[in-house]
Amino acid sequence: MAKKKKRLRTDRLILVIIGLVVVIGLVIGGIFLLKDHKKRNTDTALDASNNQETETKTGIEALYYYEPENQARYEAYQALHPELAEEDVVWMVNVHLDEEPYTNLQVIPESEENNEVLLVNKHYCYRDEFEPAELVETQNGKLVTPNTKTAYEKMVADAKAEGITGISAASTYRSIDYQVGLYNRYVERDGAEAADTYSSRPASSEHHTGRTIDLMGPDGTLESFESTKACTWVHANAYKYGFIIRYEQGYEDITGYQYEPWHITYVGVEASTTMHDEGIHTLEEYYAKYVQHQPTQS
Ligand code: DAL
Ligand code: ZN
Repeated sequence: MAKKKKRLRTDRLILVIIGLVVVIGLVIGGIFLLKDHKKRNTDTALDASNNQETETKTGIEALYYYEPENQARYEAYQALHPELAEEDVVWMVNVHLDEEPYTNLQVIPESEENNEVLLVNKHYCYRDEFEPAELVETQNGKLVTPNTKTAYEKMVADAKAEGITGISAASTYRSIDYQVGLYNRYVERDGAEAADTYSSRPASSEHHTGRTIDLMGPDGTLESFESTKACTWVHANAYKYGFIIRYEQGYEDITGYQYEPWHITYVGVEASTTMHDEGIHTLEEYYAKYVQHQPTQS
């Protein structure tokens, strides 16, 4: 009898233990299920936010030269110029073309003054003390940088070999002090508004770089250069030597100057060839797309 009772108690104990194991198992299983569910919810939320990020990177935000801090200026400039493509608005604003000329001049840092590609215009200027690192004389005694001289003389020689003579340098390097007098004389003669369409204010002239050459025509004036065979040849071939026609016709709103068929600027063969091949007509656009930012390699 006592033995039977003991066996009954042992059986009950075993049942209780089994019961406990089942309950504990259910609880642990429940916790895991709950965690997994939560994780899946989080993953879905992350996916959604990633998708959102990809979605917002369409339009101008997907441009490699998009600058988030300029968003408000892009919108304002686009509103003022609905005729412009939005991708053009972005690079134009990035190089300050949305600002009034000479109002927020960006001073080229001293460490960048001798970079191969320099943007000098009504929005970018030199510090007042600037001088080119080195100037040398061309064969007719004009001051330019050594790279400019080499490229220019090779271009003149190659043109000559093709029967094109008459490429001749008039104005090349001009100091900031010299430009003060020149600009002031133009202002006295024509008034500031007119002078600003063809002459740079001091420290903003490309001629300070020593890489700019004004070419003259047979009568010694810049204006007569346009109708020469030399002009046609230079406009077709200058890029091969690292030169660009800096102020092209039809791009006055970007360059800030009237067409100057005689004004060529040495920017190096890499930049001039890219501009030629990509159909980029202004240094402003090249600077925004290849110097401020570089295209991502695909
Ligand atoms: N004529 C050009 C714009 C200059 O003055 O530098
Ligand atoms: Zn010039």
